Amino acid sequence: MADVTITTPDDARECYRHKGLRQALYDDGEVVMGDVVLNLHGDEHRKRRRLENRLFRRDTFFMYEREYFPKVINETLDPYLSQGRSELVSLGHQLMMNLAAVTAGVDRPLGTPEESFHLYDYLTSFIDGATLAHYTGDKEAKKIEIQENLEAFDREFIDPGVASRQALLKSFELGDLDEEALPKDILMVLLRNQDKIPLSRESIRREIAFFLLAGAHTSATAFTRVIHYIFKWLELHPEDSERVGTDRIFLQRATHEAIRLQPSSPISARWVLEDTSLKSGLILSEGDRVLIDLEKVNRNKDLFGEDAESFNPDRELSEGVSPWGLSFGQGMHACIGQDLAAGLVFAPGETEQDHLFGLVPISVEAMFFNGCRPDPESPPEMDESTTRPYFGRYPVVFS
Ligand code: HEM
Repeated sequence: MADVTITTPDDARECYRHKGLRQALYDDGEVVMGDVVLNLHGDEHRKRRRLENRLFRRDTFFMYEREYFPKVINETLDPYLSQGRSELVSLGHQLMMNLAAVTAGVDRPLGTPEESFHLYDYLTSFIDGATLAHYTGDKEAKKIEIQENLEAFDREFIDPGVASRQALLKSFELGDLDEEALPKDILMVLLRNQDKIPLSRESIRREIAFFLLAGAHTSATAFTRVIHYIFKWLELHPEDSERVGTDRIFLQRATHEAIRLQPSSPISARWVLEDTSLKSGLILSEGDRVLIDLEKVNRNKDLFGEDAESFNPDRELSEGVSPWGLSFGQGMHACIGQDLAAGLVFAPGETEQDHLFGLVPISVEAMFFNGCRPDPESPPEMDESTTRPYFGRYPVVFS
């Protein structure tokens, strides 16, 4: 039994798609991640994923991006614009969480900033739960605290959400409500299909908490990093300062490039369930753990050129090379929210009106449109509570 590190794109793709390899990243994080879609395997995973795929359609993403998200961005940004300053790590999480809540089915009946901050405290706890393997404090005590938070979150947010959805479902079954009027979220999907895929309340609670964090944490981490990379780019390319306020495709490419260089989850891990050999000749034995080093894979010079290590939103790529590398995974567990988060690659002949930009690029655009720049009096700090390279604080000012 050994750890086998994968550093080439071909091996990584093959591992992501291999049915004899099983998720290994959340063994310490079962308090939140126990039986969520990302942690299921084989038939159980296929059934859950098929159910949830119904919600993740491009027309729904367009609806979010055109109609819903601009409103959320304005509401979330406005208080900070009035103050003239903000802090990217918490702002990014608030922003992305408010959208992820809609997708997950976590209602915010009051819609107040206080309610958002309160939900954000729960989110922070769930993130700690999922990333417990990297926690540097007392893990057992942390686990108990997270379980208590999950139960409190259920009482406050899931319980009323279940009651209101069940009432709507009843009206729908009686013919008093159109299907279109049912909420389009994961909680609804799970409740509506309880006869086909029955889930305990604990499982539903974990799945909803997971969708909240999967949608919010990854996109929020990307949000801060893209803005950081653009600040650094502008120091070297001051001639592009106009572009960041006006060129949406540039901002989307910057997002893809930042996600390639610093994947939200830098390592994917899988347990090897049966002896197998990869096309490259690499042998994997039952019980081994495969570690896909996404930072290495995504900096492959054959795919991304001699300057693969550096940030370059104007990078030219050969056909078929995805600009974010393998940062959204591949195969059965490939990210369900990829198009929602990062949009589609802008194709020749397409117009900006028809284009899906993704939530991270349009949020970044709102920041630069408002003249966001680093706070000259308060430099960014790293998060010391984890071994992963997250920013802890990133103060910015608006001009
Ligand atoms: C920049 C943003 C994002 C990044 C970098 C990202 C990355 C990933 C990666 C790498 C995986 C696969 C993990 C593995 O195979 O071990 C994944 C899976 C997943 N992501 Fe994302 N993600 C992002 C945004 C989102 C959003 C916005 C949502 C939901 C609205 C989401 C929901 C999920 C779910 C549910 C899975 C599990 C899929 C399955 O197991 O079948 N993600 N994501």
